[in-house]
Amino acid sequence: MNLIEIENVYKIYKTGKIKTTVLNDINLNIKQGEILVILGPSGSGKTTMLNVISGLDKITKGKIKYKGKTISKYRDAKMTRFRKKNLGFIFQTYNLLEHLNVYENVLVGASLGKTKADVDTIIDTVGLKKHKKKYMYQLSGGEQQRVSIARALAKSPEVMFCDEPTGALDEKTGKKVLDAIVEANEKLGTTMIIVTHNPGIAQIGDRIIKMNSGKIVEEIKNKKRTNPKDIPWG
Ligand SMILES: Nc1ncnc2c1ncn2[C@@H]1O[C@H](COP(=O)(O)OP(=O)(O)OP(=O)(O)O)[C@@H](O)[C@H]1O
Ligand SMILES: [Mg+2]
Repeated sequence: MNLIEIENVYKIYKTGKIKTTVLNDINLNIKQGEILVILGPSGSGKTTMLNVISGLDKITKGKIKYKGKTISKYRDAKMTRFRKKNLGFIFQTYNLLEHLNVYENVLVGASLGKTKADVDTIIDTVGLKKHKKKYMYQLSGGEQQRVSIARALAKSPEVMFCDEPTGALDEKTGKKVLDAIVEANEKLGTTMIIVTHNPGIAQIGDRIIKMNSGKIVEEIKNKKRTNPKDIPWG
């Protein structure tokens, strides 16, 4: 089943008389439960793509549907409610609450959703059981990123948007973070959309979309997902 349908989407910026087409006629369907990886060089439009699919940013032309409903025409307040209820986000920086421990940070995430996931199960899923009581300054970068994944998962989002989730991490910790993403997809069924410029990461997904200059230039179906620990890095 298609969870998200993107039809003839354009994002055009205007500065004075100059027009910049950042998304140029994008057509893409995203299936429920899949891991989709968006790959492309810097400036190709990956972050813009995530932002428009998730309604953080408005499109200039076209249509985006979520379970058949045209969300791209939602007004700001409605879009914000929709996003809070259904979507999860992981960014390159972690945006965690420093004065709360791991458990409490995840609890904050749980309080945002309509259906609350079990906080202990989620912490276990991302491999942080041992670190539950620790504060953020007591954790490594990879562990902090996994707290941010746990926090996003705790509200049981249907889709999770991950923008360069391992961008700030070395190979070993980066692979642990990818493991947590794959495990959450397998255990909780969360649809995952991962943006990266690292071609190795693409192999963990079901499908790879390559972007260049605001267009989808290639789509590759992965017959078998590669375990994050076996992918080449960088
Ligand atoms: N407000 C804006 N006005 C004009 N151009 C913009 C604006 N925001 C982004 N762009 C341009 O859109 C293009 C795509 O940006 P985007 O952030 O989506 O790239 P990206 O693929 O995520 O790159 P990176 O890998 O560096 O994060 C860039 O060339 C950028 O300069
Ligand atoms: Mg980007």
